Amino acid sequence: MSEALVIFDKVSYSYNGKPVFHDLSIEVPVNKTIGIMGPSGTGKTTLLKLIGGQIHPDRGKIFVYGQDLSTLSRKELFGLRKNMGMLFQSGALFSDLSVFENVAFPLREHTDLNSELIRYLVLIKLNAVGLRGTANLFPRELSGGMQRRVALARAMSLDPDLIMYDEPFTGLDPIALGVISNLIRNVGAVYDTTSIIVSHDIEETLTIADYLYVLSEGEIIGHGTPSELKNDKSKRLRQFLNGLPDGPVPFHYPAIDYMADLISSVVD
Ligand SMILES: Nc1ncnc2c1ncn2[C@@H]1O[C@H](COP(=O)(O)OP(=O)(O)OP(=O)(O)O)[C@@H](O)[C@H]1O
Ligand SMILES: [Mg+2]
Repeated sequence: MSEALVIFDKVSYSYNGKPVFHDLSIEVPVNKTIGIMGPSGTGKTTLLKLIGGQIHPDRGKIFVYGQDLSTLSRKELFGLRKNMGMLFQSGALFSDLSVFENVAFPLREHTDLNSELIRYLVLIKLNAVGLRGTANLFPRELSGGMQRRVALARAMSLDPDLIMYDEPFTGLDPIALGVISNLIRNVGAVYDTTSIIVSHDIEETLTIADYLYVLSEGEIIGHGTPSELKNDKSKRLRQFLNGLPDGPVPFHYPAIDYMADLISSVVD
């Protein structure tokens, strides 16, 4: 693989003592589209938060653009984040701002550009996602798929070298899904962006990504190009890729014994 943009070196992370990752090592090469797949609750969103420096590992190191995140001051981290776009799982547009102002927000926050130049850049981004005509509307006046496209325009607004997409395909009809998928591909190709796509949409992610990691229970159960993964014989990987309910990957969040739990609620 070429030069790495993000490196996880034996990263461990837990929420209040509940482990999510143990000794996780990943490399994200420059100018590629990387897919991170895995069952719900396996830590995909957590992984993106670690890359963004919103949370910090308990052990191990994370390097982004060659910089060790643990050595950066708040200001340096803020500077680094300018070069990372994030499409949040929830869309997370500002509901009281117009479409235009949503896309302008990072530019106003992070640059000193004058309003004319900001207008110019916002219109270019909105045009790229086909929604220039909605500039004066509010997010509530758009469909879910359109909101996702505005969020994508916002994630692209500072022309970051890295864009992270958290579940970009969820809840979209097949046409909207195709549109988003093409946009992600085109943004990557046209702007030389490195993309990290987190998703449980196996089909779509295999189509779009150059290289994939599959996570389960805090570890990597498989990685490779789409064709390498399709030919991988590992049982855990096959269960996930073929969408089988039964197999080594558990469906349940860890819990106390089911019967004991039910009985205790009757006794209480
Ligand atoms: N802020 C938090 N505080 C405590 N636990 C959390 C927090 N965020 C996530 N978790 C736990 O960490 C684990 C990983 O969560 P995460 O959101 O990273 O999963 P995910 O792979 O993105 O899931 P999904 O596919 O459903 O979005 C889950 O068990 C979750 O309950
Ligand atoms: Mg998630």
